[in-house]
Formats: sequence, structure tokens, C-alpha cells
Amino acid sequence: SRAARILVASNRGPVAYSVGDDGELRSRRGGGGVVSGLSAIESDSASLWVCAALTEGDREAVRRGVAEPGSRMIAVDPDVFHAAYNDIANSVLWFVHHMLYQTPLEPAFDQDFRTEWAAYETYNAAFADALAEEAATGASVLVQDYHLALVPAMLRERRPDLRIGHFSHTPWAPPDYFRLLPDDIAVALLEGILGADRAAFLTRRWADAFAACCADVLGATVSADGREVTHRGRTTRLGVHGLGADADFLRERAHRDDVAEQMATLRAETGPGRRLIVRVDRTELSKNIVRGLYAYRRLLTDRPGWRSRVVHVAFAYPSRQDLAVYREYTQEVARVAEEINAEFGTADWQPVLLKVDDDFARSLAAYRLADVALVNPIRDGMNLVAKEMPVVSDNGVALVLSREAGAFEELGDDAIVVNPYDVSATAEALNTALTLPDAERADRTKRLAAAATALPPTQWFLDQLGALEA
Ligand code: G6P
Repeated sequence: SRAARILVASNRGPVAYSVGDDGELRSRRGGGGVVSGLSAIESDSASLWVCAALTEGDREAVRRGVAEPGSRMIAVDPDVFHAAYNDIANSVLWFVHHMLYQTPLEPAFDQDFRTEWAAYETYNAAFADALAEEAATGASVLVQDYHLALVPAMLRERRPDLRIGHFSHTPWAPPDYFRLLPDDIAVALLEGILGADRAAFLTRRWADAFAACCADVLGATVSADGREVTHRGRTTRLGVHGLGADADFLRERAHRDDVAEQMATLRAETGPGRRLIVRVDRTELSKNIVRGLYAYRRLLTDRPGWRSRVVHVAFAYPSRQDLAVYREYTQEVARVAEEINAEFGTADWQPVLLKVDDDFARSLAAYRLADVALVNPIRDGMNLVAKEMPVVSDNGVALVLSREAGAFEELGDDAIVVNPYDVSATAEALNTALTLPDAERADRTKRLAAAATALPPTQWFLDQLGALEA
């Protein structure tokens, strides 16, 4: 203990474990932006990645003393974890920052919510304890995301000698929306993050929204350039680091045999010569998969010339299925896909190819073959899929991109930009994308790939560390 000089803390760690029928532990790489960004951290003896035990397999790994090199899993009581992760982080906080609440009916912050919030505090305190125990004097700690918003302040109390950074991988809600939260909780979340020396975000827009919430809710002072927040005599610097795609890793991985096999399968399933509109997401409400399907249906209705000449390939891997609202959303995606297939499908053409499971090689195969990428989230911290597709595309890809994705700030100029709520405009954008002349599509893809890889994960991580230590 007390030996680590660089620490990162996140809910999801590098791998998740499961126990096989033979009683052996198996590990699988986690999905999402945090794990992609942090893959750069060195697993040397001076670094430590502190994460939570998420599954029964993870808890078993903790009991057996098994861990990925350079990482430590924290196993809190499963009920505490469930309340902190599912009820607070992925219901309340995720919903606030992605503006997913239908306010006339929900949320209702009642007694259950208070109990769940207490679990969120306990869970954050468990992280603060572990980090305080492991960090060497003067070490740097990079705390990740909305699961751990209270950790910076808790850790500062325990270890004032540390340099503490916080990074948000989500959007940040504007003040009028953030104030949906009970006042004391809104204050606790902001003061939790302001416990850091530096609070960083994926885009300037989210950093500005955070500063606006600090001013509005706490009465904090924001510097004229918007780069510093002062509250109760302490100043927290704000930063922006737009996580990019890992071109070297993706290109190498996308040219292995298993991906080539998946490309052949996908071609066989979609039919030769058909144009492919591809999307790859977690099955998660902010991704707006259902409106994407509606837009595709609108395209087939209004422009019948595309019938039988195009296939909408939607790969969605299940996420947060412990929560009913995420399960129901997943079912709705399947239901609408079936409806479209029933309405337009023919003996030799299935208009929507939907797969609800996780297969990275198959996703890369779809990336390489895509003619159009559909990335239309309601709100998204960044969206790495929008950045990955142009990087591995074989023949160029036209990107239909929501203006509410963080990636829009970097990719907007060469994308076909949509308001994610506007289904008919999205249908028109799909048509524009499908008809983009080859040369222009190739040019745009080149520029998109360059912008998408401007800040690879390793540099993203080192920049944060450098800025924290500066
Ligand atoms: C988003 C969040 C991450 C999270 C990921 C996957 O990218 O910002 O913190 O790890 O989604 O979600 P999950 O709940 O499966 O970890």
C-alpha cells in the first residue's frame, strides 16, 4: 500500500469476470468510452487502476485474490452496489446528464431515492478509502465519470497531499435541467467534483454547462474565460480533452482473419451489392436507436427507389439490463425492427438486420463495409463509434451525425448533421448520405478519420496527467 504514484478510479474496470461451468474464472474486456480511454494506462508497479466488482464473477475474483495486473477491484455489498450503480448512477445521473426524463411523470424523488443516495455515498466512500490507502505521498489520482462524483471531495478530506482530477465521460446538463435534482444532492454532486484540482470534460460545451451549474446552484465564481471555478476559497481548473479513436489498434484489429470471415457472413446476410446503413451502440436510451429505425422506415416509404437496394444493419449490445427501462428499450428496438421487416421485407430482402449481442469482430466487419454510418444520439458525451467508422472504412463512409453528440464539435464539418428528434430530417439525411458522390465521400472520410484520431487514448490520458501535474 501507499506505493502507487498514478491512480485511476472508475466504476467499470479493464475486464469483467465470470465463473465457467468448470469453476474457472474467465475474463472479458468491458465496453464503453472509459475503458477505451484508459486502455493506455501502463500496468507497471507505479500505476494502479481501482475499479468496482460489478458481477458475481468479479466478487469471486476478489475472494480468490485474482486481479488484472495493475488493478484492484473493490467489492462492496451487492445491494449497495446495485443502488449506487443502477438506481443512482444509471437511472438518475445518466438520465439528468442525457436529459432523458419525461418530466410530467418522472422523476419523483421520494424516500427510496434517499435510501439509494445513501448507498451512492457509501460506494463513493469505499473508493475514497481504497485510493487513500494505495496512493503514495503527492500521487496523482484521476477519478472517472458520474459514478464517482463524490470521490474527489472525499479523497481530498482523507489525503490533502494528493493531486486529484475528475473526468466526465458524459454530457453535463444545463442548469435549468440539472436543477431537477433535489437541492442538497445537486450541491453534493457539484461540490464533490470541485474537490478536484482539475475537472475535465470531453468537449467545451460540457465544461461550460458544468461551470454554469456551479454558478447557478452554488453561487460559485467562474473566471471570465470559463476555465476556473472558485467556491469557498478553493479554485478548480476546468479542462477539455476530446478522446479520439485509437487508429493503430483499430486498423490492425480490423484486418485480422476473424473480421474477414465476419465480412463474408455479413455480405451473405445482406445480399450482394446492397448499400449498408450501419449503426453500432449499446442498447441504451440516449443512443436513439428507435428514432433511427423510424427515419429508415420514412426513407423506405418516401423514397421507394431504395427498397431492396439498402439494408439497415443495427448491432446493439445489451447494456444495464438489470434496469427495466433499459430492458424495455431493448425490446422496443426489436419490435420496431420486426415491424419494418414485416412491412417492407420480400423473399430475398430483409430491410433491417438487427443483432442484440456483443461481437467486436462483427462490429469491425460492419465498420469496414458501411456505406453510411448512422450516429443519432439524443445526447452523448463524445460517441466513439462516429470516430471509429471513418478510421477503418474500406471504401469511405458518409456519416450522419447528431449535433447533440460531443463528436459533433470535431466532426461536424464533414458529417451530415441532424437534430436527433427530427425523424423526417434524419430520413432526408440518410438519403443525402446514400447519394453522396464517391469522390466526395472519400474526401470527407479522410478528413473525418484525421479529426477522429487527433487525440489517441494514450495521449488523451497523458494530457490529463500532464495538466493535473502542471
Ligand atoms: C458510458 C459511461 C461509462 C460506462 C459505459 C458503459 O460510456 O460514460 O462510464 O462504463 O458507458 O456502461 P456500463 O454501465 O456498462 O459500464
